[in-house]
Amino acid sequence: MRKGEAVKKDFLAITDLTRAEIEAVYELAAELKQKVKKGEAHPLLAGKTLGMIFQKPSARTRVSFEVGMVQLGGHAVYLAPTDIQMGKRESTADIARVLSRYVDGLMARVFAHEDVLQLAAYASVPVVNGLSDLLHPCQVLSDLFTIGEHKGKMEGLTIAWVGDGNNVANSWLNMASRFALNLRLGVPEGYDPDPEILSSAKKAGLSEIEIVRDPREAVKDADVIYTDVWASMGQEAEAEKRRAVFRPYQVNSELVALAKPDVVVMHCLPAHRGDEITDEVMDGPHSIVFDQAENRLHVQKALLVKLMS
Ligand code: CP
Ligand code: NVA
Repeated sequence: MRKGEAVKKDFLAITDLTRAEIEAVYELAAELKQKVKKGEAHPLLAGKTLGMIFQKPSARTRVSFEVGMVQLGGHAVYLAPTDIQMGKRESTADIARVLSRYVDGLMARVFAHEDVLQLAAYASVPVVNGLSDLLHPCQVLSDLFTIGEHKGKMEGLTIAWVGDGNNVANSWLNMASRFALNLRLGVPEGYDPDPEILSSAKKAGLSEIEIVRDPREAVKDADVIYTDVWASMGQEAEAEKRRAVFRPYQVNSELVALAKPDVVVMHCLPAHRGDEITDEVMDGPHSIVFDQAENRLHVQKALLVKLMS
């Protein structure tokens, strides 16, 4: 940090924001969403540049951040895995130092969570975690906003996570220490979420958090059913083994019927239709998966404005 500069703020985990900060992001996101719908310009980050480092593939994250920066009057630079080869061609620390001289913020999608921590430690500009093996905070930040739009509230709802205790599930646990949720995780044995994140979410004492093995028990009377792929990026070699383990956890019409009649079904996408979710559910009346995808744009724009302006 250069002399006289304010302390920069990163977003590596949901818990990097206070509840008040999350609420402020949501308020701005709703405003910006309206402006987009009405075609009103909102150049809140005019002239600013976001560097986007990707070690893994992406559709939503890449496009929503890039389009978001353009709508805010700024610019985004996409850095593919083969471009900068962070940690291989050059150390992560040096990449952070160099890119900080060019850009006003960094977004990174990485394998090892340690890499976003390193980037944040050495960058002098804000760093946003665009997914790591441990967390996917941008996804869950925007998902609770989507739930608020559909349910008219963000607390007191039963959210049933069905499937793998992965990076998205871990971020839901983090969210449970900011908003009072009834979070039920229906996960098979051996695929629990991160034990430290689980224990600190429980210790926060704000939400009801329960791990159950039976997916039917998880979704019983739920307001929200959430699922994700059975093998995340980087786990492709385990895909066959996982398919057998997770088969009973498929979100299909039978499972959805056990939840509340007005349950909404969520998936961060990309979906493997026919595995963790059926076509019938994904294209059915309970599904809000494309609203979810859209809101990544609005919520992340608000987040960037808070971090970069
Ligand atoms: N949900 C999500 O992060 O999608 P992408 O992997 O396509 O960015
Ligand atoms: N859990 C998934 C999320 C993709 C957006 C993965 O990490 O591949």
